[in-house]
Amino acid sequence: MLQKTVTRDGSETFLNEEVGESYHSFTGAVEEALKKYAVPCKIKELAQTGKLTILDVCFGMGYNSAMAIDVAIEENPNCEVEIVGLEYDPEIIKKIQEVNPPIKFFEHYKNLTPQSLEFKKGNVIVKIILGDARETAKTLPADYFDAVFYDPFSPKTAPEMWSIDLFKEMYRVMKKHAVLATYSCARMARDNMAAAGLIYDDGPILGRRGPGTLATKWQDEVFK
Ligand SMILES: C[S@@+](CC[C@H](N)C(=O)[O-])C[C@H]1O[C@@H](n2cnc3c(N)ncnc32)[C@H](O)[C@@H]1O
Repeated sequence: MLQKTVTRDGSETFLNEEVGESYHSFTGAVEEALKKYAVPCKIKELAQTGKLTILDVCFGMGYNSAMAIDVAIEENPNCEVEIVGLEYDPEIIKKIQEVNPPIKFFEHYKNLTPQSLEFKKGNVIVKIILGDARETAKTLPADYFDAVFYDPFSPKTAPEMWSIDLFKEMYRVMKKHAVLATYSCARMARDNMAAAGLIYDDGPILGRRGPGTLATKWQDEVFK
């Protein structure tokens, strides 16, 4: 059962009553997309290179990648952007039709339905791979993504999504300079990132919550 609710920046999200968690932070769904994902993953800077690939793990309604597209296009309207989303629940993809976050590119995300998982608009390609991310991640090419937005339910609720094996897949598909960003600072998540070969540090703090986590293959990329 998914119940619509409004976060503190006025953007809507859903509460998944079965899981007992919401799809976004109550402090602000759109603010989180910008400050916890697009900014620390350096989307603006990457857009200047003219080409950008983002892996949106646990795509949900796609707020995080849609916001990154806004940031990239504003910086460089000619930038080629490819988004690959991993999501296993067709019900949340249907909910894209029911929300209108203040993200310009989001109107195009309305092309996405469980029956239509891919579209192209100008220089932007968006594709959802429907299935369990623990399996679908294995089908992705190595050294391919400039940024990874990592947004599963919490380590407490969904520990299987924070495993060493899955972080090893993230490591495999990230380019050398890529940054992985997540909202969680859980010990278990960070230990498993490290065991998979990733180097992590604190990400941004939003509101009164703890910091997120940023991870990379090369220390210099995140922490300079
Ligand atoms: C916190 S929400 C993500 C919200 C999303 N980033 C957004 O902007 O709407 C977590 C998402 O992970 C998905 N999910 C949970 N387990 C999964 C799995 N094993 N494989 C793929 N997606 C999964 C859920 O269906 C849910 O949409």
